Amino acid sequence: MPISNVPRIRLGYFPTPLDEAPRLAAETGLKRLLVKRDDQTGLGLGGNKVRKLEFLMAEAERQGCDVILTVGGPQSNHARLTAAAARLRGLDSVLYLGGPRFDRFDGNLLLDILFGAEIRFLPNATVAQMQKAMEDGAEALRAEGRKPFVVPFGGSTPHGALGYTAAVQELAEQLGDDKNPQIVVAVGSGGTLAGLMLGVKLFMPGARVIGITVASSNRGFPIDCSEVANGAAQLAGEKVTVEPDDFEIYKEYLGERYGVPTQAGNEAICLAARTEVMVLDPVYTGKAMAGLIDLAGKGVLDKDRTTVFFHTGGCPALFANEECFRKLAKYKEVIF
Ligand SMILES: Cc1ncc(COP(=O)(O)O)c(C=O)c1O
Repeated sequence: MPISNVPRIRLGYFPTPLDEAPRLAAETGLKRLLVKRDDQTGLGLGGNKVRKLEFLMAEAERQGCDVILTVGGPQSNHARLTAAAARLRGLDSVLYLGGPRFDRFDGNLLLDILFGAEIRFLPNATVAQMQKAMEDGAEALRAEGRKPFVVPFGGSTPHGALGYTAAVQELAEQLGDDKNPQIVVAVGSGGTLAGLMLGVKLFMPGARVIGITVASSNRGFPIDCSEVANGAAQLAGEKVTVEPDDFEIYKEYLGERYGVPTQAGNEAICLAARTEVMVLDPVYTGKAMAGLIDLAGKGVLDKDRTTVFFHTGGCPALFANEECFRKLAKYKEVIF
């Protein structure tokens, strides 16, 4: 397959499991619910970015780069996994983290520190300011004789998206004859969705892909997703074209804004934990699962068709949001 000709570095454990989720299926009214366990990709506590980084890091090394720069929020899974991938390959990493001020180095931030990343905190910076700070940082490194590789938000470039095109090939093999599933996935920067859409066109044309948005769009979804997907197709030497209309995206599960937990998302986290002992997170997969549950209830998802939930990871952020779940504790102090 041409995609196998694109340079890739093994960073994670693949194939990830495809688990039956019968108890969660019964709760949602779906006949068959499968979970693609991309939270179990292995590297640095896992998550979807490992697949993207296999192609991104290969490109960085092909260009002879020695330091990786990227951007995200303080609890960015993408930043954590970029730091992990860089460390594994013996490269340095610098993370440009914008967002609200924080007073605890927990969740993903704690892992960033352990993986030896340099952190540049840009309190409440806009997306444009963060990108500019990273570009300036790259320029300064070049002036010092370093070779920086800049990874934009979420690693959502054509190289990054290819990770999810390959994931569909993997999923198609696991599904055997059941090749017409409806696939549900969280959408942040959009590269995962873009790669999945290209993968479906190449390896599973009967499948339906449903994206649940967890960030407000600042990149003109779904137009950019099709551009990224078509860039990925070009890298792989594939003739297929992805159109903006190919994307089925639901925005109503985002809530107030990116990173702010919703009640439905938190309820979905509890349900997944208590039915399948599956750990979701309040920023991405909890909201995506809330979307799946609601769309199943409304009949937007076909109950008789196999549904695949892509579990994209994000679990470290759960620990940075413990206050959402404290009230559920069956907790009693025992005095001796
Ligand atoms: C846990 C998790 N799920 C889903 C996504 C969304 O992926 P994408 O940015 O490719 O849309 C991310 C992105 O950071 C993530 O960390």
